[in-house]
Amino acid sequence: MKLLVANWKMNLGIKESLSLASHISRKIKNNKNKKFILLPTLHTLATLIKQKSLNEVLFGAQDCSQFDIGAYTGEVSADMIKEMGCKYVLLGHSERRKNNHENNKVLRKKLTLVNNASIKTIFCVGEELIAYNNKNSKETIRKQLSNVFPEEFDFKKLVIAYEPVWAIGKNKTPKMHEIESISNFIKKLFSKKYAVSNIPILYGGSVNTNNSKDIFFLKNIDGALVGGASLKASEFIKIYDTLN
Ligand code: PGA
Repeated sequence: MKLLVANWKMNLGIKESLSLASHISRKIKNNKNKKFILLPTLHTLATLIKQKSLNEVLFGAQDCSQFDIGAYTGEVSADMIKEMGCKYVLLGHSERRKNNHENNKVLRKKLTLVNNASIKTIFCVGEELIAYNNKNSKETIRKQLSNVFPEEFDFKKLVIAYEPVWAIGKNKTPKMHEIESISNFIKKLFSKKYAVSNIPILYGGSVNTNNSKDIFFLKNIDGALVGGASLKASEFIKIYDTLN
């Protein structure tokens, strides 16, 4: 199963989201071999999910709270995200790790609640430029994947997104053999540490219509997490066409 995930971040209002989602869903369809998932803002999700014309589209949230219920002003829980109709949640994106100081302890709480809510997680890992330059990418990722999954976590509901932080929104990507080497490392880590074989891995960071074909050609890559290029229907559709 191949996946293409659109991370719209905090870029679109309700009208633009509706128009983009409608355009995309008219042109591309999910099938048993490949699927696309849209991650709009929470404020637009409620409207999009209710649209009859979008009922074939898979939606997810860009984050959820580390708390389950109660006096947590401004938070939205994993259960609430599920109640909205989301099938997926993105966790551990580098922008949240940086801007919201999300560490393994916080992410473990979120993973626990998402697991309890039985929704699927797209979990982001990836190194900063300094780690990349010092050849510490694998060590960084090993730490990001340690002591973060709760006991009894259902790994069947997990997808990993490898996103080198320095490649996000920068029109830069690692070399293809580097992406292959990291994804191979992640697959092996899951198999050794968690007895999970063939964990799905997406690549993210400046995926566009020029590089998607080469990225999807890589043996250990099962799709992509796309930011900037997912904001234009024509580009996202073209990238989906190269996914096989
Ligand atoms: P980008 O963003 O495609 O704009 O680099 C990817 C992401 O942040 O998930």
